[in-house]
Amino acid sequence: MFTDLLGFYPQWYVPNFGSGYVVALIASTHVLFSHISVGASFLLAYLMTKAYRGNHEEIYDYVKKYLFTLLLTSYIIGSLTGPGIWFSTTVSNPRGISALIHNFVWAWAAEWVWFVTEVALVYILYYIFDKVDKKTVMHLSWVFAIVSWGTLLIIVGILAFMMSPGSEKWFVTGNIMDAFFNPNYFPQVGVRTSFTVALAALMGLAVATRIKETALRQDLVRTMSMAGIGGLIFAGMFMVWYLDTLPGRAKVTLDFAIPPAFKTVIFVSIAVLALIFALFYIWPKANRSTAFLIVLMVAVLGLTIFPQERIREWLRKPYIAGDFLYVNQVVARDVPGKNITNEIDTIDEKGFLKVHPFVPESVKTITPENMLEAGRAMAMISCASCHSLDEGGPRPLVLKMEGITRPDLIYQFIERRLSGDPHKGASPYMPKITGTDEEIKALSYYLAHLNYEYLVAKQRGVPLTEVQKEQLEAPIPQPELTQKEQPQAAR
Ligand code: HEC
Repeated sequence: MFTDLLGFYPQWYVPNFGSGYVVALIASTHVLFSHISVGASFLLAYLMTKAYRGNHEEIYDYVKKYLFTLLLTSYIIGSLTGPGIWFSTTVSNPRGISALIHNFVWAWAAEWVWFVTEVALVYILYYIFDKVDKKTVMHLSWVFAIVSWGTLLIIVGILAFMMSPGSEKWFVTGNIMDAFFNPNYFPQVGVRTSFTVALAALMGLAVATRIKETALRQDLVRTMSMAGIGGLIFAGMFMVWYLDTLPGRAKVTLDFAIPPAFKTVIFVSIAVLALIFALFYIWPKANRSTAFLIVLMVAVLGLTIFPQERIREWLRKPYIAGDFLYVNQVVARDVPGKNITNEIDTIDEKGFLKVHPFVPESVKTITPENMLEAGRAMAMISCASCHSLDEGGPRPLVLKMEGITRPDLIYQFIERRLSGDPHKGASPYMPKITGTDEEIKALSYYLAHLNYEYLVAKQRGVPLTEVQKEQLEAPIPQPELTQKEQPQAAR
């Protein structure tokens, strides 16, 4: 019995919100603050150099306040959300995180060293600021900037692999270098680095507009505006290169499945940022309030980061990592280099409910009595990592299926859109359905009920269409189970 089990974990389901959104919320906050830290470290090094070379005491005063603010905001929020990503991803997608650890454990160890150095340096810089000579502080601030960037250089390799290993090589060798330096890596480093420069420039503007010495203020405002515009232009160019390195299926998803609103938000917020920089460049005398700028910065960048990260996560579908592991945890292909074998055939033959260790014993064998419960278990392990089974949360199934209450139609839909075969009309972003025919029938039956309940609930508030009314009146037909013994008996 136990030999049939595959290494699945319990499903973490967050009603009406989705475990994926929990991760997304924590991760987007982390991305914002970690990028701010990297940008801030370069700005700091720049300001220190400027202050040292020009002997500007006023800049030193700002740099010290700036360090303190950075310590209190970015480092605390960044350090809280970093482990938050570990905790949330480990429960939401245990096999995904395991796949990454088994590839990148040394990369992560190295990243951890960079990160600890970075945090230590931010404290050291703040506390020695007035105690040692400014030249030493300036040199240390450059070390700080480089190690901050070092963390980005490592994490991007892991993120790039999540999108795709980029070639067939890694599947065969299993070598960390083939996974890390994939075609997606350099353009993504370019996009993120350029973006942190733009971020640093925004923060630099906030500092610069407060400086009292007129000539120095105008000079800094102009430099920051230039750096900001430059950062955005480079980010745009690297983005074009990045999109070009995406796997084919991701390009299809990008062109046909991503709602245009996402792209619009990104373009508009980048245009707003560019405009802010341009205005400051033209009127360097303008002395806007710092608080206003910071709020604007976080708002505008938050607006671009969330859709950007969301799109990246979307383009990765149906995989969570490395073009071999589906979001719903099924291993979809052989990876000889890592001794990983495709599970699809085994699951199709033995049944998903049977091989999953955390499915209750009562639904392992489907009968007409437990069909609904078994169907729900199937939906949990096959669909719920991407689709909410409630009305709220990510891509709720009741909203996606337009109230169809006929199991046979749902069955047909699954057999087509989740067939894994583009010729049959399979979607590029959904995994191939795994399980026995009976299990897929039970799943269809459960989904029909889910839609039915939704229609009943909707009826109380919103008037139903004629078709929906008809569906509500008709009983939900239970699919015939083709018992496995039957064909054998007939033979
Ligand atoms: C890897 C993630 C993933 C899994 C697993 C998944 N889907 Fe989807 N599904 C998507 C995405 C992405 C869309 C695109 C539409 C959207 O996001 O609004 C989608 C769309 C749909 C749609 C709308 C019609 C269409 O074809 O675009 C239906 C219905 C649907 N899924 C049903 C299911 C069912 C049933 C399951 C489980 C057997 C399932 N999906 C599993 C990601 C997934």
